[in-house]
Amino acid sequence: MAETIIKTEKLCFEYEKNEGEEKTQVLRSLDLTVERGSFVAVLGHNGSGKSTLAKVLNLLVTPTSGKVWLFGKEINEETMTEDELYEIRRRVGMVFQNPDNQLVATIVEEDVAFGPENIGVEPSEIRRRVDEALETVGMTAFARHSPHQLSGGQKQRVAIAGILALRPEIIVFDESTAMLDPMGRREVLDTIRKLNRDNGTTILMITHYMDEAIDADRVIVLDDGRIVLDGTPREVFSHVEEVRAAGLDVPQITELTYRLGLSGTPITAEEGADAIEALITNRQERN
Ligand SMILES: Nc1ncnc2c1ncn2[C@@H]1O[C@H](COP(=O)(O)OP(=O)(O)OP(=O)(O)O)[C@@H](O)[C@H]1O
Ligand SMILES: [Mg+2]
Repeated sequence: MAETIIKTEKLCFEYEKNEGEEKTQVLRSLDLTVERGSFVAVLGHNGSGKSTLAKVLNLLVTPTSGKVWLFGKEINEETMTEDELYEIRRRVGMVFQNPDNQLVATIVEEDVAFGPENIGVEPSEIRRRVDEALETVGMTAFARHSPHQLSGGQKQRVAIAGILALRPEIIVFDESTAMLDPMGRREVLDTIRKLNRDNGTTILMITHYMDEAIDADRVIVLDDGRIVLDGTPREVFSHVEEVRAAGLDVPQITELTYRLGLSGTPITAEEGADAIEALITNRQERN
């Protein structure tokens, strides 16, 4: 049996914009279980609650009600010590959208060392972690460079290395490819996939790009603070109308074959090509 690494039960989050005003519900009774080592894509239109969920898991915001377990422990900010809470935050890394806001030092390797230095890791161990993290994200050659000289994708990989140096077990990527060009997106996506496959890191990847979600083991669709779809990418994208109702599109190839009335749910270009080829062959045989 796989180990449950994240669990939420009836998780709610609401806030009051102004004192006395009606409260806005951001997360509505969310039940979510994530297994260690899985790669979960989180989709949802603007304001559906994705970043709020990420912040709850990183203990940046406190749920209004409901329960959260991380690493098998129920989170309770009242009974847990600051050290315990800090340790859980370390084990859940967060990578945000804008790489420029996440880099703090003027030299790449110093930037990666910043996190472990802050938590008092031994200097020799810091060296080891920095080298390893830069290697993992393919940025070893840039260790002595200034982050300003890097492309967006490279900067984002340095930001990821900075998180890796803290040895997290879960990493939440909150639209970490949104500001990158296609090449930067690919670099970062490849890095995310590698972390999951080779290091066994549990990944929650919030994204607006449907074609990024097809790489995940599992896709969750949020709509207005609720989980409305949850399954493998193929299962989720086979519900074309439900995906649309949640304000999203299915991947382009799925859309095309859906419009052509083809059965099955192709989610990759290859599968789409096969389905269309079969359609053409079929027609030729009938003529
Ligand atoms: N602390 C807060 N104060 C005011 N409004 C908030 C706060 N936190 C969240 N919201 C609102 O809650 C809703 C959900 O926000 P959230 O950032 O979780 O959405 P999201 O799915 O990440 O959206 P996006 O795709 O735009 O990043 C939005 O309407 C947002 O404006
Ligand atoms: Mg967001």
